[in-house]
Amino acid sequence: MSFQKDTTMSDLHTEDTPIGAAVINLDSAADTRAVSLADPLALPCGAVLPNRIAKSAMSEALATIDHKVGDELVRLYEAWSDGGSGLLISGNVMIDRRALGEPKNVVVEDDSDLEGLKRMAAAGTRAGNHFWMQINHPGKQSPVDLNEKAWAPSAIPLKKEIRLFFREAQALTEAEILDLIARYGRVAGLAKKAGFTGVQIHAAHGYLISQFLSPLHNQRTDQWGGSLENRMRFVMAVYKSMREAVGADFPVGIKLNSADFQKGGFTIEESVQVAQALDAAGIDLIEVSGGTYEMPVVATGLKDSTQKREAYFAEYARRIKDAVKAPVMLTGGFRTDGSMKQALTDADCDVVGLARALVLDLNAPRDMLAGKAFRSLVKPLKTGIRMIDDAAMMEVWWYGRQMTRVANGKAPKPRESALWAFILIMLTKSSQAWSTRRLRAN
Ligand SMILES: Cc1cc2nc3c(=O)[nH]c(=O)nc-3n(C[C@H](O)[C@H](O)[C@H](O)COP(=O)(O)O)c2cc1C
Repeated sequence: MSFQKDTTMSDLHTEDTPIGAAVINLDSAADTRAVSLADPLALPCGAVLPNRIAKSAMSEALATIDHKVGDELVRLYEAWSDGGSGLLISGNVMIDRRALGEPKNVVVEDDSDLEGLKRMAAAGTRAGNHFWMQINHPGKQSPVDLNEKAWAPSAIPLKKEIRLFFREAQALTEAEILDLIARYGRVAGLAKKAGFTGVQIHAAHGYLISQFLSPLHNQRTDQWGGSLENRMRFVMAVYKSMREAVGADFPVGIKLNSADFQKGGFTIEESVQVAQALDAAGIDLIEVSGGTYEMPVVATGLKDSTQKREAYFAEYARRIKDAVKAPVMLTGGFRTDGSMKQALTDADCDVVGLARALVLDLNAPRDMLAGKAFRSLVKPLKTGIRMIDDAAMMEVWWYGRQMTRVANGKAPKPRESALWAFILIMLTKSSQAWSTRRLRAN
């Protein structure tokens, strides 16, 4: 189907077709529908997203060295809220200070920084949009210079090319698993108390929940491993714990891998079944992504023929969307307003997720909603050093630098050299990791 640029989708809504539920065929193809980026979306819990553009989670690494919210996070989320997205999702907030993904992650374990979280929530909702907290635990993707231990479903190391950078995994005990489930719930409850308007479970990208789902990384023989039913027990328990903490009318979403894209790993067929189980349990939004640190396709997509569109995981999101009632968000690769509109009208997803594009152009959503064409400045980053360029972290670090600029009132630098940025980042990160370890030792 080709998107008809001259048609304003919202014009097609009538009194009889409730916004967000309208399904009108634009042409003879049966699976196209009239949905525009500007349409609101009612979620299963009853909350309504004001439009279909979401800022996907990006780890800001902008908390204080002891993991509290400071002015930089407040300024960054004020800017994003003003940018027009219907939904902002925070960078991953960690549930255990012993298990960080990066220095200066926000960590929530209790209400000791409730005032900081309140400031962050107020900043990120100031334009009337939704702002959800993404909740995460890195599992074995636990940087060696930052954490003393790594907990995972099974004591299986990461692949040898990246093993050196991470702590050796130890298998979680039953008591530790139950403690983690309770932590996810506690953090969700605190997010609601602080004024976040929803929460998102991070179950993608090879972190702890993703490890539980993976037959490669989860080789437990108890109720938490083995069959898919057992491997998904952890994520279902985390969902239940969070739902109980926030109640039935508060959005609980999930970011789920369409697949790990690794031989013997979590597949799209399994992902569809997990999505169906979460759907039956009442999940409000399923964000579809893919890949792990071992197979870092999250920021590049797959280099094969399945990737026929700008959005890396479109085919997979469509398979999930066809199998569930809950709305689906698709993230990864969107660079133009045309492809976003097409993903909605082709029913690949209900919400488009943007990450890097909204670091370089914070007001893109507002402009697109006003009818302006959009083409992102995001382009591949190359330092010229293969090992670095092949790893997922360069994207995270380079965009992290740009977020730091915005958080300090400066404009991002879309042309900043990747190699130069890499050198500066290495210096900063190692000094931050040292400060984190020193703080922990005291
Ligand atoms: C700086 C940076 C940090 C990221 N941090 C997170 C994160 O905390 N949680 C998450 O689910 N994804 C994270 N991602 C992945 C993005 O949410 C997104 O899935 C990915 O960048 C692909 O989307 P894009 O092509 O629109 O950038 C991060 C990406 C970048 C660039």
